[in-house]
Amino acid sequence: MRPSENGRCPGRLDNEIVLVTGGARGIGRAIVEVSLREGAHVIALDTDDEAGSRLPAAMATSADRAPGTQLWFRHVDVTDESAVAGAVRDVEHDLGPVTVLVNNAGRNVYADPITMTEHEWDTVFAVDLKAAWICAKQVLPAMTSAGRGSIVNIASLHATLTIPGMFPYAAAKSGLVGFTRSLALDVGHAGVRVNSVSPGYIRTALVDEYFAQHPDPDAEARALDVQPLGRLGDPREVAEVVCFLASPAAGYVTGADWPIDGGLGARFA
Ligand SMILES: NC(=O)c1ccc[n+]([C@@H]2O[C@H](COP(=O)([O-])OP(=O)(O)OC[C@H]3O[C@@H](n4cnc5c(N)ncnc54)[C@H](O)[C@@H]3O)[C@@H](O)[C@H]2O)c1
Repeated sequence: MRPSENGRCPGRLDNEIVLVTGGARGIGRAIVEVSLREGAHVIALDTDDEAGSRLPAAMATSADRAPGTQLWFRHVDVTDESAVAGAVRDVEHDLGPVTVLVNNAGRNVYADPITMTEHEWDTVFAVDLKAAWICAKQVLPAMTSAGRGSIVNIASLHATLTIPGMFPYAAAKSGLVGFTRSLALDVGHAGVRVNSVSPGYIRTALVDEYFAQHPDPDAEARALDVQPLGRLGDPREVAEVVCFLASPAAGYVTGADWPIDGGLGARFA
């Protein structure tokens, strides 16, 4: 890539308007960071006000952020359709239509199929599956009328291979991969691409919490033991793939689910 007059190479997401749900921390925060580096204006939606309000200051000092890019944080619960609609309206009014949506907000759940309540089931599915549709519904009118746009859903290795005790999470993430495939067919004719990624073990609060609550004190060591690359993933390693899939460089990729699992999904024993 040739540098432009200001000495900067063109970014993969130059001038895109990227909405990242759950963007305050973990994988979402890394997606915010890489999108800013790649030239996008970014809106992070999250319910974690503490982490979210620290974002603009933290990213202001980021050495590789592309010049002129804007970053907003908004407190939005992505399971609340009217709150998402309000945020998308504000973005359209002040920055322009969202051109890239990353459905990243999610939560883990450890549940027993007999004792789990219906309310707990609905709470998990609202965040891990329904919110992706709620957010897509709000950004798709502008994307389809512009004839371009990209949606990336953060699914999980649990969509295809799972472990005991996580059945609602596995079910919701499998649903998210199905949603990805189906939506790609519905909006492809309008120039909108829809893909998902399926991370394995990525070092974030979600995974630390999983190891911390695990009855087996050696759970982390055992998880490390089966990693073909001998280590857990870094949130930036997910963000790089997400930003590539969101960008025009992946212009002929749609309806796909990309594993980012260090080879764990290739393993039989
Ligand atoms: N970390 C992993 O190993 C891993 C593996 C596979 C998939 N994933 C998926 O990646 C995504 C991000 O996970 P993470 O590890 O960064 O988790 P995390 O807990 O560090 O971050 C998730 C973010 O989503 C936000 N969030 C949760 N519910 C929300 C809601 N209703 N509205 C708005 N924001 C909400 C949280 O506040 C948090 O900032 C999730 O969808 C998760 O299922 C993670």
